[in-house]
Amino acid sequence: MHIDPIVDTPVLLEIAREGGIEGRSRHYEKLLGDMQGVYRDGDAWNAAVAERGEDELVYWVDDHRYQEGAGALIVGTSTLLPGRIGNEFAVTRGHIHAVSDRAELYFCMSGRGVMQMETLDGQTSAIELTPGRAVNVPGHWIHRSVNVGDEPFVTLFCYAADAGQDYGVIADAGGMKHNIVVDGDGWAAVPNPDHRGYRGPTA
Ligand SMILES: [Fe+2]
Repeated sequence: MHIDPIVDTPVLLEIAREGGIEGRSRHYEKLLGDMQGVYRDGDAWNAAVAERGEDELVYWVDDHRYQEGAGALIVGTSTLLPGRIGNEFAVTRGHIHAVSDRAELYFCMSGRGVMQMETLDGQTSAIELTPGRAVNVPGHWIHRSVNVGDEPFVTLFCYAADAGQDYGVIADAGGMKHNIVVDGDGWAAVPNPDHRGYRGPTA
């Protein structure tokens, strides 16, 4: 019998409801200045930068991984602060996995948000998440988090370590097919007139 060598040992991860992992291997932040072109209303984004500064935090991520490779998992938390740019709620940049059949679990730890998902051939889905609710995002779906509440929207995510991210897919299409906008006390997914359709499939 062949036995693969054990190259890592398990560790305890302490995962906070407000986001953050004790034992993380990586931490990164996205600032308002990093979000140029992400929101449809460029004038509103410019005004927000002028008012709040390009260093204002939009979201931050902690994640943990052992070895690289198809069998490994990346586990992390995403903490997306509340806010609006024009009539659009705060969003993460969004991506499709570079190895596009890789799926991803998002479990809501706190706050209220929407997992916005689209396929390259034009299917759309927007699922509201509150604590205890999760979306098992299938492979081949572009996905982004949207904070439609007044508190940080925190999700625990888990995906294959070899998935990678293609962040250009949304920008190349003129934005996602829908935008998540303010609608009374809630939110609505409205067609984005700048969307040109997605380019062909990746891997
Ligand atoms: Fe992902």
